[in-house]
Amino acid sequence: MYRSHNCGELRMNHIGQEVTLSGWVQKSRDLGGLTFVDLRDRYGITQLVFNLDENQGLTEAARKLGREFVIRATGIVRERSSKNSNRLTGDIEIEVSNLEVLNASKVPPFTIEEETDGGEELRMKYRYLDLRRSPVQQNLIFRSKLALETRTYLSGQGFVEVETPNLIKSTPEGARDFVVPSRMNPGEFYALPQSPQTFKQILMVAGLDKYFQIVKCFRDEDLRADRQPEFTQIDCEMSFVTRDEILDCFEGLTKHLFKSMLDIALPDFPKMSYDDAMEKYGSDKPDTRFDMQFIDFTELVKGRGFPVFDQAEFVAGICAKGIAEQYSNKDIKKLTEWLQRPQIGAKGLVYVKYNEDGSLKSSVGKFYPDEQLEAWLDLAGAEKGDMIMLLCGETEKTRKQLSELRLEMGRRLGLMKEDEFKPLWVVDFPLLEWDEDSERFHAMHHPFTSPKKEDVARMLDGDHETMKSLRADAYDLVINGAEIGGGSVRIHDRELQQRNFDLLGFTREEAEQQFGFLMGAFEYGAPPHGGIAFGFDRLNAVMNGQSSIRDFIAFPKNTSGRDMMIDAPSKVDTAQLDELALQLKSSE
Ligand code: AMO
Repeated sequence: MYRSHNCGELRMNHIGQEVTLSGWVQKSRDLGGLTFVDLRDRYGITQLVFNLDENQGLTEAARKLGREFVIRATGIVRERSSKNSNRLTGDIEIEVSNLEVLNASKVPPFTIEEETDGGEELRMKYRYLDLRRSPVQQNLIFRSKLALETRTYLSGQGFVEVETPNLIKSTPEGARDFVVPSRMNPGEFYALPQSPQTFKQILMVAGLDKYFQIVKCFRDEDLRADRQPEFTQIDCEMSFVTRDEILDCFEGLTKHLFKSMLDIALPDFPKMSYDDAMEKYGSDKPDTRFDMQFIDFTELVKGRGFPVFDQAEFVAGICAKGIAEQYSNKDIKKLTEWLQRPQIGAKGLVYVKYNEDGSLKSSVGKFYPDEQLEAWLDLAGAEKGDMIMLLCGETEKTRKQLSELRLEMGRRLGLMKEDEFKPLWVVDFPLLEWDEDSERFHAMHHPFTSPKKEDVARMLDGDHETMKSLRADAYDLVINGAEIGGGSVRIHDRELQQRNFDLLGFTREEAEQQFGFLMGAFEYGAPPHGGIAFGFDRLNAVMNGQSSIRDFIAFPKNTSGRDMMIDAPSKVDTAQLDELALQLKSSE
């Protein structure tokens, strides 16, 4: 027997019992005649004690134990003389009578405790050691329970989990595909799915009615804290449903997950149109934990002789509460430099401070006398102590920049609380986006998204400009500024689907070759349908108040898309390439 109990289990009521524990040596310390060893496993840490006077050989053996040695120890549970209230097992210790080293360990390259001194890359190379740390294990345990709760809820609502293939033909979700060469079909490739989008729609044509899958998706795109090349979705599709029925269903799922996992009862989710979100927050994923909405100053500030504003298409600002007296000229200069970095690209920052004594101070006081600045403050609803900050330029760019500034001020003012959750639906996205560079329309969500009912006729026979104004029956679930999920009501009619492909610049042949199977299926009685996919990794991170998804994935990739532990991707030998009818360019 390796163990009678685990390392997180023993309490005062076990005192006097003989127990056997197995685990890893986290730490050991010698205090005179006593040697203490912290023994760790997934469940916790238990203190072992060895007494030199009572058992010299055993104590000497204990002194030789290195960090991360795997041991088995048998002994009697005793009450501790100095208790550790930070640990669940902190009232007891084991007076060891038998010790066995099950496996030795090299000295680990970083400390394996709650907090580690290991850098990101090192932790990823030795992921098995990093995964021994309790916070990372807790994340994986949370993830496992979240998947279970998802399955319980969706099964309860009549959803059927269906597995869709991983070796498929490209699905256009806007990123590049990972491709896999086919040995049996030389010169041909599968693509790994960016999502099971077309398959789930086919399942609706097949009459499955309600589908879900917790599924791996693959996208060859640049990585960020909230993006991995392979990630997991809770992917869903339903037939004979309106948009609001879909939203209600997945609002129900989200509420269930927050209640069952965190004991948080979320209120009903507000709906905000894409246009409103852009106007008020400059973002289609607004963090609504705090207000600080945009104020449009364009009308008010123009024509007063300040050339920068006069020439700008758009002037907008935010009001930061209570910082007028805290922000020195130097602070504002630093903030301006931060805004001017290429990642944000603002030209400059204009401010007005409404000091506690009622006086005003502004970077553009030369152009705008106090009574005009007072009108700005009025428009912003500013109170004494507040500072308003304005940016200007081309509308879309200025909104993005101001959104960054708003988030930065939210962070600085402590308005983004980790344990507060503000979900909302962002709805009515544009259907198509015009791309100036390629002079083409792109699908804002994906090519299977339906326009809103009232826009169908305009889509079928409108001109180029009309296309820019079409609204999609598409929606995103946003929580605390993170896009958790996205979906849409789908096109289920061949003619409309064909029209969408035409608008997206597919020739008839290309559309037929890539999506003939779907359009073909639409000719055999496709029901009206729609769905959504949640980013499962993101949901885990956001529910735990974190912005990076890496620590919720057991074996994530680094920012260059490498798995540092197994060292992938890697070269393959020529025999393998020959078999796949592939040749590397001679320079390589
Ligand atoms: P979409 O592309 O919006 O929709 O993806 C759905 C959700 O998946 C998450 N996500 C990611 N998470 C981690 N790493 C990534 N690289 C990554 N890319 C996306 C996001 C996103 O909201 N087929 C459609 C869904 C539908 O229409 O039903 C789709 O995939 O949280």
